[in-house]
Amino acid sequence: MPIVVSMINWKGGVGKTSLTLHLAAGLASRHSKRVLLIDLDAQCNLSFLAVGLSAYVSHTYTNNGPTLKTVFDEYFDRKQANPDDVILKQQVRARAGKVYTKVGIVLSHQELTLLDMKLAREKRSGKDHREETGFEIDKLSVIKNIIDRVADEYDYVLLDCPPNVNLVTQNAFFASDYYVVPAIPDFLSTVGISQITKYMDQFNQDYRSMWAYAGLPGTYVETKFGGIIFNMVDEYGGGPKSGHQQIMTSVTSQLGSSAIFENYVTDGDGMSAAAQVNLPVFAFSDLPRSQPNAEKQATYMERVVDEFFNRIV
Ligand SMILES: Nc1ncnc2c1ncn2[C@@H]1O[C@H](COP(=O)(O)OP(=O)(O)OP(=O)(O)O)[C@@H](O)[C@H]1O
Ligand SMILES: [Mg+2]
Repeated sequence: MPIVVSMINWKGGVGKTSLTLHLAAGLASRHSKRVLLIDLDAQCNLSFLAVGLSAYVSHTYTNNGPTLKTVFDEYFDRKQANPDDVILKQQVRARAGKVYTKVGIVLSHQELTLLDMKLAREKRSGKDHREETGFEIDKLSVIKNIIDRVADEYDYVLLDCPPNVNLVTQNAFFASDYYVVPAIPDFLSTVGISQITKYMDQFNQDYRSMWAYAGLPGTYVETKFGGIIFNMVDEYGGGPKSGHQQIMTSVTSQLGSSAIFENYVTDGDGMSAAAQVNLPVFAFSDLPRSQPNAEKQATYMERVVDEFFNRIV
């Protein structure tokens, strides 16, 4: 069974997508793990980054190829998408002309927002409230069902969530063993972190009761908190600069030291230089600019990957 992890934070632009891609790349290249990426965000950033913008456009629009939208479309038609159609294999870019052979991806689609609304509106009437609760659980299980059908093929499934808690995102929580929170050490971002853990506690509680009430076999398995990964940290003198360090220390004292990844990723233009050419920073030597910064960020990212590998078990 794979370890399924949602990367979440409803604050936008904190590095959810960048970390998701780099964790997958690092787990595959450093730890020989098989990783499935699922892009749940209608902005499709992970999809563009992972396979390249032009490949994404030709797959999704020119060839009308399957994406996560197909998975939900099939659900509305009371069918199940075939994972072999929806998962693109050996297409996640590692460096110029090379791909990660162990990483697969389910691409996103801009119409996922509409599907989210359609999912929210969908009401199936059952013979009683218990059966209707079962239908509500079906709505939350669309992504879990597709993961379950490829469970033997992957060691990790990483879900890049949009910055909201709509039903598509809740599908990710429902399918996950862990949630990991990428965050920037600025005041506003960190205020939101305790809200995230509260929400997640509430979701776990709601799903557990729904599961029991619907009379499903076994029990609902809770999504555990996997920790906070600080991103875009500014350094001074070999460690986080004092303002960032203060915030990181304050979050540690609020949530406990085990809640925070010891390793973090620095701020720098290596990451955006790599993103612009749809490559991970690990391919720093192939970048047209900002190679020294990308190399530094690659080293920090590798440490985060190794820590993730050791703690998310
Ligand atoms: N460590 C970093 N240093 C510099 N730039 C970064 C770093 N991490 C991410 N970025 C850049 O910041 C921007 C936002 O990152 P990303 O898309 O990963 O965030 P996100 O949390 O997924 O955003 P959204 O909430 O919109 O999905 C991107 O342009 C990305 O290239
Ligand atoms: Mg994103």
